[in-house]
Amino acid sequence: MADKEISLNRGLQGVYLDRTNTTFIDGKEGVLEYSGYNIHDLAENSNFEETSYLLMYGELPNQKQLDEFDASLKNARVLPQQAYDVIDIVKDSHPMDVLRTTISTLSSFDEDRDDFSEDAIIRKGIRLTSQVPIIVMAHNRMRKGLDPIESSKTLPHAANFLYMLEGEEPSEDTAKLMDTDFVVHADHGCNASAFTTRVVTGTNADFYGSITAGIAALSGPSHGGAAEGVMELAKDVGTPENAAAHVKNLLANRERVMGFGHRVYKAADPRAKHLKDGVKKLSEEKGETAWYEILLAVQEAMTPYARRGIHANVDFFAGAVYYLIGIPQDLFVPIFAVGRIPGWTIQILEQMRHNILIRPLLQYTGERSKEYIPITKRD
Ligand SMILES: CC(C)(COP(=O)(O)OP(=O)(O)OC[C@H]1O[C@@H](n2cnc3c(N)ncnc32)[C@H](O)[C@@H]1OP(=O)(O)O)[C@@H](O)C(=O)NCCC(=O)NCCS
Repeated sequence: MADKEISLNRGLQGVYLDRTNTTFIDGKEGVLEYSGYNIHDLAENSNFEETSYLLMYGELPNQKQLDEFDASLKNARVLPQQAYDVIDIVKDSHPMDVLRTTISTLSSFDEDRDDFSEDAIIRKGIRLTSQVPIIVMAHNRMRKGLDPIESSKTLPHAANFLYMLEGEEPSEDTAKLMDTDFVVHADHGCNASAFTTRVVTGTNADFYGSITAGIAALSGPSHGGAAEGVMELAKDVGTPENAAAHVKNLLANRERVMGFGHRVYKAADPRAKHLKDGVKKLSEEKGETAWYEILLAVQEAMTPYARRGIHANVDFFAGAVYYLIGIPQDLFVPIFAVGRIPGWTIQILEQMRHNILIRPLLQYTGERSKEYIPITKRD
């Protein structure tokens, strides 16, 4: 085919891959909805358990349905011993590598391993939603030579996650903020990690293979890794007064300001507001407002770039939330994965419902029809 006939979309930017009933995003207007419900309503009024149900089943539950769903999540708060053994073997790696390896291992111990029915995928999704926080927190303890803290059987999902950090129940406000963080991270259309789970599912590979690949895609700084980068940025900036000069310097060197910009949102990321409000409140409660002030100053310094569609994204304030709660910096990306399991589960299911092998093309631009010269005759 002649070059001019090929329509090349590097990064598949602006390409629609399929239809979905799950997540609606209007990047120009800064709108995000899960199954028709606005993210602002969900962040303010729902919780992670209810939002997970909404994503997995496509509608809000009644009280009985929510109670049963919640009971399934709580019952799933166990890991096979072999998973702890694997964590122990790889415990010196980055938590995302540990998470990836352990999730991959879990397929061997899943009673539904060979069941690809919709019900089985939902059961696996529910189990993994409860197991991923345990993996992350167990690893965090084991790498310090400490025993993992056993999950609570009664605390809500977000509070239980924080409880497993040191065995202390978080305050209601802190648990609520963590819960909101999970709600706003629960799904986000066809981003790099969700696309990856769909590509793997497209080959009829199993659920754990798809999630393992999604975790790998999420681990990079252009995707899930930005929250970690934002705290590094805040530390480098040091004081609010330095923010403008620091940002100017980064941009002059054509470096990225972590936590800014988005492939889809060219208006403000609607998720960022909820975490910004949370950081403000938490900083004031803890009497530790320095990080919030630095982030505000960085945001102020980036104001001229809003005209070009570069705004603070969800990760910009997420890092400060985790930092103020006392979560180690290298757990920031795994936290993203803790919230994203329900979203990946429904994306895998949607892909399975009318599956097609995902197989784009590459335009070849190298030399052609070259003569093969035996190695003895090459220069
Ligand atoms: C997320 C991201 C990869 C999306 O990028 P994208 O849609 O592929 O857009 P591009 O990388 O093509 O950037 C478009 C322009 O905006 C600029 N830009 C985008 N994000 C920027 C940032 N964070 N800091 C500085 N400039 C940025 C680019 O330099 C580019 O400028 P140019 O046209 O003069 O070359 C990008 O914004 C980024 O790297 N952000 C920082 C990491 C981050 O926060 N990731 C979390 C996303 S939720």
